[in-house]
Amino acid sequence: MATEMALVKPIAKFGITKTPKWNNPSVPFCVKMMSTTTPTPTTTTSSKKGTKKAIKETLLAPRFYTTDFDEMETLFNSEINKNLNEAEFEALLQEFKTDYNQTHFVRNKEFKEAADKLDGPLRQIFVEFLERSCTAEFSGFLLYKELGRRLKKTNPVVAEIFSLMSRDEARHAGFLNKGLSDFNLALDLGFLTKARKYTFFKPKFIFYATYLSEKIGYWRYITIYRHLKANPEYQCYPIFKYFENWCQDENRHGDFFSALMKAQPQFLNDWKAKLWSRFFCLSVYVTMYLNDCQRTAFYEGIGLKTKEFDMHVIIETNRTTARIFPAVLDVENPEFKRRLDNMVAINEKLLAVGETDDIPLVKNFKRIPLIAALVSELLATYLMKPIDSGSVDISEFDPQLVY
Ligand SMILES: [Fe+2]
Ligand SMILES: [Fe+2]
Repeated sequence: MATEMALVKPIAKFGITKTPKWNNPSVPFCVKMMSTTTPTPTTTTSSKKGTKKAIKETLLAPRFYTTDFDEMETLFNSEINKNLNEAEFEALLQEFKTDYNQTHFVRNKEFKEAADKLDGPLRQIFVEFLERSCTAEFSGFLLYKELGRRLKKTNPVVAEIFSLMSRDEARHAGFLNKGLSDFNLALDLGFLTKARKYTFFKPKFIFYATYLSEKIGYWRYITIYRHLKANPEYQCYPIFKYFENWCQDENRHGDFFSALMKAQPQFLNDWKAKLWSRFFCLSVYVTMYLNDCQRTAFYEGIGLKTKEFDMHVIIETNRTTARIFPAVLDVENPEFKRRLDNMVAINEKLLAVGETDDIPLVKNFKRIPLIAALVSELLATYLMKPIDSGSVDISEFDPQLVY
């Protein structure tokens, strides 16, 4: 696909190893992990030279997105769309050009020393954390890079902001990938770009989904940072010390999407916008909760209680989101958490079915009632009385850049 081909180009710029087999159609849904050095005595078996680690693509795995770039061009054409506040975008561009974190992502020898001390299950959990985070950051890089390229003629200011956001995401992904090198691994981002399935979202859905993922990213990073600052005995890998400034990048990205949505009031001011806002809130919150509850060992490893951490992040993200989305979920209603916990229990049963030795047909039969139960929980959560919010008088809302 032309778009995907174009997306591949920037990889070489930040020095990610390409391999000749990255386009192997026999492994379309795998992420390839390669060893980067000769294993040290503390190296786990998965990083032995030449060993590739395959990670299954699941519904809950970080996704890559593509969109209708022609429609994006129309939306950001200031001759067609008179709502585009050029002064506001110009001000945001200056913020991005300032590049507050230009010199922030500098590693030191603490990283390798800390990685070498991590052993056993916690080591594996850290590797998975780095790999999933790197994939998610890289996904943002690809989408923003392409938007920067495609909007250059129609709206150079918005295009440049997208390019500068892709700079940030490349930095984040690169930093996480360097973290993997402490474990003698590297995520082959070139392979990932080519082999990964891209999820198509119309522009309006890109706005909802990306705004939420930036803001939830901000709240996750800042919460982990503050927790580890208060409880330094759990600081077992130095990457978390970088989260304070790092999360400001995500906050700025979210604020930019908020400005973009203000320029598209048709995506915020009718009943359909309310339904979609609630839908995206639900998808993002449930995905995070189910994902994190499968990885409690990681959160407990850094001294957090997984569900409490997630609920804090959901509540704060929802409060932030309520400033711009026309409706949000009532996540502070105890029924919301109760339903999330029901979903976790059902998801655990679904995972257990996958672990059995049954033939695929039997597994699928066993899954039917569980999937029906999960869908019914999702529906009930979606239909909980929502909170009307945000966008009625959006002109009063200005993005807040925390510095
Ligand atoms: Fe990022
Ligand atoms: Fe971001």
